[in-house]
Amino acid sequence: MNPDAATIAAGAPIEVDLSPVAEGQDIKVFWRGKPIYIMNRTKKQIEEARAVAVDSLRDPQSDESRVKAGHDNWLVVIGICTHLGCIPIAYEGNYDGFFCPCHGSQYDSSGRIRQGPAPLNLAVPPYQFVSDTKIQIG
Ligand code: FES
Repeated sequence: MNPDAATIAAGAPIEVDLSPVAEGQDIKVFWRGKPIYIMNRTKKQIEEARAVAVDSLRDPQSDESRVKAGHDNWLVVIGICTHLGCIPIAYEGNYDGFFCPCHGSQYDSSGRIRQGPAPLNLAVPPYQFVSDTKIQIG
């Protein structure tokens, strides 16, 4: 039995099937009225995210701490810019991650702020893997 739309909007957990999302692609779903980006990162994106010195970051977080161990290719972030709340665009900008066109914030392939006015990384929502190809958000 699935929760109805009103229950989901109020905050019920949602399950998302990841199997249609190919490497190098992303999907956007909505949870609690917020856009959630789910990105199936390429090897290159993961390597780029892990090559960065964490203490050089504005909001220092390791890539490993922002993904689930054993599912390192999947990045799940709330798609709301931490500057003034615009919705960034995936696979845009200089860091193989997200670009916010409102005032030019650039996030990397771990959703961490790298350039522009945003103070914080894109937030990671609470989620867990319920199988190899399915996550539950919330
Ligand atoms: S709202 Fe994203 S840069 Fe200002």
